[in-house]
Amino acid sequence: MELTGASALVTGGAGGLGAATVRRLSQAGMHVVIADLAEDRGQELAKEIGDDARFVRTDVTDEESVRTAVDAASELGPLRVSVAAHGGPAARSRVLGRDDEPYPLDLFRQTLEIFLTRTFCVLQQAAAAMARTSKLESGQRGVIINTGEYRRVRGQAGQSDYSAAKGGVVGLGLVAARDLSPLGIRVMTIAPGTFFTPAFRFGRGRGPGEVGNSCPIPSGWAGRDEYGMLVRQIAENDYLNGEVIRIDGAQRFGLR
Ligand SMILES: NC(=O)c1ccc[n+]([C@@H]2O[C@H](COP(=O)([O-])OP(=O)(O)OC[C@H]3O[C@@H](n4cnc5c(N)ncnc54)[C@H](O)[C@@H]3O)[C@@H](O)[C@H]2O)c1
Repeated sequence: MELTGASALVTGGAGGLGAATVRRLSQAGMHVVIADLAEDRGQELAKEIGDDARFVRTDVTDEESVRTAVDAASELGPLRVSVAAHGGPAARSRVLGRDDEPYPLDLFRQTLEIFLTRTFCVLQQAAAAMARTSKLESGQRGVIINTGEYRRVRGQAGQSDYSAAKGGVVGLGLVAARDLSPLGIRVMTIAPGTFFTPAFRFGRGRGPGEVGNSCPIPSGWAGRDEYGMLVRQIAENDYLNGEVIRIDGAQRFGLR
């Protein structure tokens, strides 16, 4: 798919993976809306990129706010790429806590809400806007890319809510791709390994070095740019649809 002159929406666009995506898509000639809660980082990134980027303060938990961001992207050009890369509260949900108390259901729901339901909300709103654009010669209108998480989907202990949410995002991908194929809209999921972004907080005695060691080659943490590169490659490659791409440098984790 030709990206030059078209527009893109990136939720969490001021974050680690989101900002890398915004930079890569603007390098490809796209007009990009940085849709994020973080006003300062979002404005700063828009300034760095210049005319091709616009920050729109967005709260993905508010449907109207998502619609406003989608509309802003559609004003910049035909919306062809939408990437859900927003974060949310860090979760640590053992099924039972230290005293064998059940993990609070409202915290479980909160994690599902931000990572799964709101990813679906962005997908729906973006698809509706793409459906209003003209089809390209290839019969396509655009691509929607969601962020899953392979490590958690494989079930590390103590992360039941996050794992369930990200597993839901992975499960959504193929169904959404099939639902939207008559409209010429592809849907892909990226399952990142460990990228060193502000989302990571380390407990005492743990650090990036420790996590990096579980990645054989390249060793250490992935630079965030690799995520943005993959988004661009997916957007440009018409034959990628309904699939999950794992980007983790063959990193594997144990039980915890
Ligand atoms: N970093 C990794 O290694 C990694 C691995 C696997 C999956 N992921 C996933 O990638 C996505 C992005 O992660 P990241 O590492 O870039 O995190 P990050 O914390 O660097 O960025 C997340 C961004 O989302 C924004 N945000 C938070 N709540 C929001 C809301 N309600 N509305 C709009 N924006 C909101 C934040 O302001 C922030 O800029 C997340 O879904 C995360 O689970 C990250």
